[in-house]
Amino acid sequence: MNRELSKESNDMNMIPSASLRERLGSAALGSSTSKTASAPTRVTTGAPAPRAAAVRGGPIDNRAYHQLKARIHEALLDRIDLESMQRLNGDQIRQELRLLVERLLEEEMVVINDAERKMLTRDIQNEMLGFGPLEPLLEDPTVSDILVNTHKQVYVERRGKLELTDVTFNDEAHLMKIIDKIVSRVGRRIDESSPMVDARLPDGSRVNAIIPPLAIDGAVMSIRRFSADPLRLADLVAYGSMTADMAEVLQGLGKAKVNIVISGGTGSGKTTMLNVISGFINHNERIVTVEDAAELQLQQPHVVRLETRPANIEGKGEVTQRALVKNALRMRPDRIILGEVRGEEAMDMLGAMNTGHEGSMATLHANTPREALTRLENMISMAAPNLPPKAMRQQIASAVGVVVQVSRLTDGKRKVLSITEVTGMEGDVITMQEIFTFRQTGVADDGTVLGQATATGVRPHFAERLRTFGVNLAPHIFEPR
Ligand SMILES: Nc1ncnc2c1ncn2[C@@H]1O[C@H](COP(=O)(O)OP(=O)(O)OP(=O)(O)O)[C@@H](O)[C@H]1O
Ligand SMILES: [Mg+2]
Repeated sequence: MNRELSKESNDMNMIPSASLRERLGSAALGSSTSKTASAPTRVTTGAPAPRAAAVRGGPIDNRAYHQLKARIHEALLDRIDLESMQRLNGDQIRQELRLLVERLLEEEMVVINDAERKMLTRDIQNEMLGFGPLEPLLEDPTVSDILVNTHKQVYVERRGKLELTDVTFNDEAHLMKIIDKIVSRVGRRIDESSPMVDARLPDGSRVNAIIPPLAIDGAVMSIRRFSADPLRLADLVAYGSMTADMAEVLQGLGKAKVNIVISGGTGSGKTTMLNVISGFINHNERIVTVEDAAELQLQQPHVVRLETRPANIEGKGEVTQRALVKNALRMRPDRIILGEVRGEEAMDMLGAMNTGHEGSMATLHANTPREALTRLENMISMAAPNLPPKAMRQQIASAVGVVVQVSRLTDGKRKVLSITEVTGMEGDVITMQEIFTFRQTGVADDGTVLGQATATGVRPHFAERLRTFGVNLAPHIFEPR
């Protein structure tokens, strides 16, 4: 995200002055600005008194710091020469802001130490040019999710673990300004009449914000960072998410045009897995992707990406996944990749899988491979309520080749729990056989999940198909270890 933002701020001279004023000014101050500006925290030389700003920590220092920041920021806005700022690039503006902040501190005779001065300068630069207190988190490449739970509390996820940060906002209004800045930058709005918004930032990160009255304790925002350098199959093996044998099989399934459903819970790594397996699609195939928020990062030369559109404020203009899947079918795709199948589009996707678009893939929200198929059945029944259950199951059984079950375990690690082949029907029931499985044996004292992934010993039917596509797997791959 940050890369994109700093690129944008480097292009400042292309932004008309009204919007520059808006960008420099509006994002920063909460509604309490004027109140805090006159608050008696000013410290002049000679006064024995508390320091205007101390390192953030205790609640009083923290408040004094916020007040000082708000006051300096406001003074700065009066002082800034927008005309000449227009001609500067992002780095020059930062430099200019630093000089102005230092001059103001000097004029106001504020007593702060060097570290505090640096922090204040950086925070004000972040307010004016970026997303305020979120900037340090956005700059940190190890942060994969940022979860703002009201202005008082921000969590991040690093390497699969949630951590509380010491980042806070001045107040609710300050957080609202930042949320507004983020969503308005991508042409969305959030206010009482539309209190929930989903947006994708220019760099691909996904943002969801929900505000009062729906969010009871104050505005809440969740950011799923987009990794410019997506995980690859080898990374997943290195992280212990699966064995090298499983990786080899998944790679083969991608090459051999097996229809795959990736099943898992929220944040379990479904999209990552879809991206990884799609990476093995042959470069001469035409791929059409359909997503709610485009996240897939396929490297092939021939990819057409489609993204749904939510209804506008009058409730018009919505374009659903189903409409896009139908449209994709008219685009002569070799494969259709559906980010997440959730509703009626399941019908069209299975149709595609059954009619010559082999090797199509989708993710789906379910906790076991069996449940994934049940969910598909439910989705189809929404689209075709009169279709008998057996006919639905036949469609599913003939369309889906393999279900890959992923999960985020209690220790935060993401694992492939199962690679299961769909083999057909027996009576009214879809038959499946598990080829690889993760067997949990216990939990270590530090919470680490113990266990091992292994082949089950069942030789899959797809092994033959893989061979016809030139993927020759060693027979021992399917033997239990
Ligand atoms: N095997 C893995 N090991 C480590 N990190 C992973 C793994 N798979 C995914 N991740 C990371 O976990 C986060 C969530 O992954 P991803 O977006 O693929 O999950 P998802 O199941 O699609 O989530 P959602 O339900 O929100 O769509 C990402 O930051 C991703 O980089
Ligand atoms: Mg996903």
